[in-house]
Amino acid sequence: MEDNILNQELIANKLIDEEEEFHHLNNPADGIKPIIKKYLGVPKSADQSGNKFYFSDGDAKVEVVVITNEIIRVRLAPHSVFLDEFSYAVPKLEQRAIDFTLTEDENEFKVSTSAVNCHIRKTDFFISFSDSNDFVTSSDAVPMHWEENVKFGGYYVFCTKTCHAEESFFGLGDKPTELNLRGKRLKNWNTDAYSFAWNQDPLYRSIPFYISVNEGIAHGIFFDNTFKAHFDFGAEDPTKTSFWADGGELQYYYIHGPHMMDVVKSYHILTGTHPMPPLWALGYHQCRWSYYPEAKVKKITNGFRENKIPCDGIYLDIDYMDGYRCFTWNRKYFSDPKRMIKELAADGFKTVVIIDPGIRVDDNYAVFKEGKEKRHFCRRSDDYFMEGHVWPGRCQFPDFTNPEVREWWGGLFDELVQMGVAGVWNDMNEPAVFGAGTFPDDVRHQYDGYRGSHRKAHNVYGMQMVRATYDGLRKLMKNKRPFTITRAGYSGVQRFSSVWTGDNVASWEHLKLGNIQCQRLSVSGISFCGTDIGGFSGEPDGELFTRWIQMGTFSPFMRAHSAGDTKEREPWSFGEPFTSINRKFIELRYRLLPYLYSIFWEHHRYGFPILRPVVMQEQEEITNHFRQDEFTYGDKILICPVLEPGATSRKVYLPKGKWYDFWSNLVIEGGKEIDVQTPLETMPIFIKAGSVIPEYPVMQYVGEKEIEEVKLNVYFSDYEVNSFLFEDYGETFAYEQDIYLEKKFVVNGSRAKLTIQQSMEGLYTPRYENYEFNIIGLPFKPTRIIADNKEFKDFTFDKDKILKLKLRKNFTQIVID
Ligand code: GLC
Repeated sequence: MEDNILNQELIANKLIDEEEEFHHLNNPADGIKPIIKKYLGVPKSADQSGNKFYFSDGDAKVEVVVITNEIIRVRLAPHSVFLDEFSYAVPKLEQRAIDFTLTEDENEFKVSTSAVNCHIRKTDFFISFSDSNDFVTSSDAVPMHWEENVKFGGYYVFCTKTCHAEESFFGLGDKPTELNLRGKRLKNWNTDAYSFAWNQDPLYRSIPFYISVNEGIAHGIFFDNTFKAHFDFGAEDPTKTSFWADGGELQYYYIHGPHMMDVVKSYHILTGTHPMPPLWALGYHQCRWSYYPEAKVKKITNGFRENKIPCDGIYLDIDYMDGYRCFTWNRKYFSDPKRMIKELAADGFKTVVIIDPGIRVDDNYAVFKEGKEKRHFCRRSDDYFMEGHVWPGRCQFPDFTNPEVREWWGGLFDELVQMGVAGVWNDMNEPAVFGAGTFPDDVRHQYDGYRGSHRKAHNVYGMQMVRATYDGLRKLMKNKRPFTITRAGYSGVQRFSSVWTGDNVASWEHLKLGNIQCQRLSVSGISFCGTDIGGFSGEPDGELFTRWIQMGTFSPFMRAHSAGDTKEREPWSFGEPFTSINRKFIELRYRLLPYLYSIFWEHHRYGFPILRPVVMQEQEEITNHFRQDEFTYGDKILICPVLEPGATSRKVYLPKGKWYDFWSNLVIEGGKEIDVQTPLETMPIFIKAGSVIPEYPVMQYVGEKEIEEVKLNVYFSDYEVNSFLFEDYGETFAYEQDIYLEKKFVVNGSRAKLTIQQSMEGLYTPRYENYEFNIIGLPFKPTRIIADNKEFKDFTFDKDKILKLKLRKNFTQIVID
């Protein structure tokens, strides 16, 4: 026993030195003398209460909660008092694991489910996790520790785990750096980062969730702490991974894999998924700071129709308002907004307006007056209102962490909704304040009854703003799906909004960065994401803009946006050949809408990310941990954007299996890198063999024409592959009452035969009657087609060896031989 204590002290002393380094680096401005950290001692007791297990060293307590067979939550209470259960990220903590046990031997306590063991070592309180094969996936390198915060109260809380030689790390939201975070130290503190640079940290969002892959096995850590949080993935010491925060509780969810996909799906179980967007929101959006007056807006929207370039969303940036006062209109520029929005709608455009959190201090402005009377604005610790300058000048800011304020805010959209506004864009909600950057630490927040300072509320402020916006719109729009987009967010923001990556730059480096950021956001819970196509600041040339449109065609959210001091930036602004290529890709976006809508459904309902980095396909292969250009869009389409100027070819890695070149239909065996020609008119797109890719006819906007038939492109394979098609009304919440159709196609081929089966679930009936099949890559000349036991003679097999036929949409089986 004495040995143990000595050992413990030795370890602690060694680590104090190390950890003081952390403290020093991360709180340099505090002016506090480093304080000795306290480490968990030796666990002396173990108790169980349902799915919760408690271990104590006599003073501090650790809680281990079994949530599912794969998810275990760990919490630390330095003096045995846990904080109340409350999280903006995890709205409902449902316990889903059925069988779990607590066992004990001379070395450890062990909490086990069918998938995971959580070990609490008796000598030193090290906590580790292993899988059912006894492979240790995660283990403490130091006992959990903390340090009193003498300035603000509470604790700095730390967790340090072993980092393995070949361990890789993914996730953490919008970090503008390499996809694999190994060797990086990063911080979460929502920040307005105009024209951010590669490696700049932090940016707009805080997503304290990462995925580790070591020896081919993945696990995730979700550190649900809203304070300024830090992550070190072997940067300071290559043998350690640490995460810590400047306050709050040391609380993390260990999420077991073994596959990265399992981890992401479990993370979605905790924090939720995006609701289904209105179908139009998956179309192309055009934005600019700002299109005004009305005549300019019309000039742009007419430009789309004249150039026959599809577009669904048109944005009004801050200049539509009267002196940047939210919920007002500049009547000089927009004399009759309701009429304008109606006319735009008649031409197929949905109007999206920006709304920022800063409310101008002006007693003649109704929103300010009401907010002031109801005391809805944030106050400092001395009770004076928090004031700061943003676009409107001197402003106060609603406390969105107060449910009453959220309710009030949601109601403010009434007039905009009456006018026909279809979507709202929440910006500057980190929150951003000119000069100061953000609010001072002492600002008080109601925090849904769990009051706290801005240190606790800062990272959730933007998420609560867009939550208020989304919930308000949802009520006001009755059964219609609102569209929202936010710049700031915290884990779980996906339940309320899409996001874009903020104020990027018109450069090739930013094109690369945007490609990585969208993949990273997608594995961090935020699938509905995109970049400012073309780059917000600076001037792209035609080539860069076109390459960006090509990549954006495969961003779940597709919007071009640019700062006010830049040249015109519409898809036709660069002349030919760019206009035609941009049109071709935006048309491709519209052709593939039913595919995107279906993978969105897979995200919403089953928790799959929409964009998937190649490492998600083959995580056991270490070289894939460093591939960051290629990604799959859903699991059927592989995209590799062209990211270099003047590129006439590029290398693309195809994961194992057979792939079809989308442009030529050539079949290529994967599991290797290939050279692909990349003239400006194309970018590398590959379709997985066995896929059924649905297509709509090109339209200038969603709903322009009645869909008379859906094209199904079937890519032959000699192994079985499942595909999905999701259909519903596209704009209501009827899907929540099962009014949708989820179709499953199973394709299975051999040297002389192909079968396609279809099954369906749900209560929706699409209005079209037929499918138009294009069956690609048949290795034989078809002579007989049997559809649901009847021979079908009406087909063609052209010189490109594409079998074409039309069939009723309700078939269950087709056999071709
Ligand atoms: C911020 C936004 C940008 C917007 C501008 C004016 O910089 O990130 O998208 O255009 O403010 O509202």
